[in-house]
Amino acid sequence: MGIIAHGIDLVDCPRIEQMIERHGERFVRRVFTPAEQAYAEANKNDVEKLAGRFAAKEAVLKLMGTGWRGKIAWTDIEITNNAAGQPEVTLSGEVKRIADELGIGHISISITHTANFAIASAVALADSNEHK
Ligand SMILES: CC(C)(COP(=O)(O)OP(=O)(O)OC[C@H]1O[C@@H](n2cnc3c(N)ncnc32)[C@H](O)[C@@H]1OP(=O)(O)O)[C@@H](O)C(=O)NCCC(=O)NCCS
Repeated sequence: MGIIAHGIDLVDCPRIEQMIERHGERFVRRVFTPAEQAYAEANKNDVEKLAGRFAAKEAVLKLMGTGWRGKIAWTDIEITNNAAGQPEVTLSGEVKRIADELGIGHISISITHTANFAIASAVALADSNEHK
């Protein structure tokens, strides 16, 4: 599985906090899946967790070269954490369709955050059936 694309994003955590204060549940539901919301709620630093997920979604859009547009929904990109805490990406909807078209078989993601910033880096690996 070769690397076919990379995306990175930096998010200002206070900006995410402002969006939540200004738009409340509407913003949170539009951008984050129920599993992402539950993960953030289960943690004290929930704004950091959400900002990390926001950065991860933007990093994934960057590696696909599309940016946020058209039929893409933020919730098409879901970030969950495995038992060890490592983040994992699941795609659906329009984003999954674009990823399939690009021959992306797997996306590896890494997230880091402080009270001020969240950064995510995403690497797309080729679908082994198409890119041997
Ligand atoms: C996993 C680890 C590297 C995270 O680093 P950190 O500096 O604590 O925190 P960061 O903000 O940089 O990163 C947090 C993100 O790391 C990711 N992460 C967590 N566990 C991970 C793992 N096992 N593998 C890969 N990524 C992981 C998550 O995405 C997490 O963000 P999220 O919960 O919002 O999804 C760290 O907790 C760790 O295990 N360090 C090893 C040493 C150690 O155990 N130290 C603690 C006692 S001194």
